[in-house]
Amino acid sequence: MLGNFAYCNPTKLYFGDESLKYLSEELPKYGENVVLVYGGGSVKKNGIYDEVMEILKANSRNVAEIAGVMPNPTLEKLYEGIEVARKHKVDLILAVGGGSVCDYAKAVSVSVHCDEDPWEKYYLKFEEPDCGIVPVGCVLTMAGTGSEMNAGAVITNREAKLKIGHVFADEMIMPRFSILNPKYTLTLPHYQMVSGIYDIFNHICEQYFSGEDDNTSDYISEGLMRSVIHSGRIANKDPQNYEARSNLMWTATWALNTLVAKGKSTDWMVHMLGQAVGAHTDATHGMTLSAVSLPYYRYIMPYGLSKFVRFAENVWGVDAAGKTDEQVAEEGLAAMENWMNELGLVMNITELGADEGMLEGIADSTLILDGGYKVPEHDDIVMIFRNSL
Ligand code: NZQ
Ligand code: ZN
Repeated sequence: MLGNFAYCNPTKLYFGDESLKYLSEELPKYGENVVLVYGGGSVKKNGIYDEVMEILKANSRNVAEIAGVMPNPTLEKLYEGIEVARKHKVDLILAVGGGSVCDYAKAVSVSVHCDEDPWEKYYLKFEEPDCGIVPVGCVLTMAGTGSEMNAGAVITNREAKLKIGHVFADEMIMPRFSILNPKYTLTLPHYQMVSGIYDIFNHICEQYFSGEDDNTSDYISEGLMRSVIHSGRIANKDPQNYEARSNLMWTATWALNTLVAKGKSTDWMVHMLGQAVGAHTDATHGMTLSAVSLPYYRYIMPYGLSKFVRFAENVWGVDAAGKTDEQVAEEGLAAMENWMNELGLVMNITELGADEGMLEGIADSTLILDGGYKVPEHDDIVMIFRNSL
């Protein structure tokens, strides 16, 4: 570990199939005006909404609702929610849903008392809030993003064709508490489940494929990746397997709650590529990542060869005896590709609605970061997208 860092994660987690009962312990810590945020209706169909409402009523909360938060929440929807929260004099924002709902709740939380335009301030200038932050609590219904224990909030500006995530530095923007009941994820459609599985895996990759130093974080990451591969296989064949779904929910949290990035550099280019695809197609987040991953990793592999060799051996169990480093590294990526195909992930951007004519525009929407083994130029980005068609 060569880096200097501070580590603080204030989110209190309640995990397991009885975890919702702890909502009653959390509610009295905040004022009575609660804004309940949820998505397009899954929580009404599977009964989670009723369970949460019952607890809110039993605690005499004064509840306003923001319903219909869409996957990849939009700026327009954010403006709408800010008005609801202001009118209700909100004391606590309770997000009940997946990453989109949790991210959205955080974006509302830093905007309610902000006099400036939140898109301009938080998503174009990447400034931190200098106003009061409304506390957020989450009841998570989908495993993948890690939003339940981080300070990230991704918002899509459809008009500008930009999907931007701000990972706030202030840990008070992390949810104050999150309730993680793996049972709640059992009603997810298969497509969303595997998309979440790949999102978890890729979050770990993004933080692993960077830097040359010997770093404890990388060893933790290898363990987490092996757990995701193992439980992902079980869940894919048997989606109602509680043990596998529970492991996936827990690895999702640890894959992106800042721990495995500590003391090292990180890449995040697959997410930048995926977010640009998402901005143009509104495709499911995890699938945008799976569609661009292999062309990106095959592009970057020669510049970080030793890490790809380590990935092949430690994560995929590739036997390196008698092989060149390039062969071992490629075997690792081939094993990953097989696993991705086994899960039924989307492996190209054509399936997500992109075509040759859109590549320049998607490349223009891609933020270029410099933490990876090579900083791609615009033409490299276009080539990676072309190889993803
Ligand atoms: O809207 P409803 O009806 O609730 O349906 C949702 C939605 O259609 C459905 N769903 C969720 N839980 C369900 C369920 N359906 C049945 N049963 C359940 N238990 O699943 C669909 C997808 O939900 P969504 O919240 O969009 O998925 P996810 O958790 O993947 O979140 C994606 C968003 O998070 C951002 C993404 O960019 C995207 O906007 N991310 C946030 C990150 C962070 N905060 O750190 C990092 C990630 O890399 C990611 O960028
Ligand atoms: Zn992600």
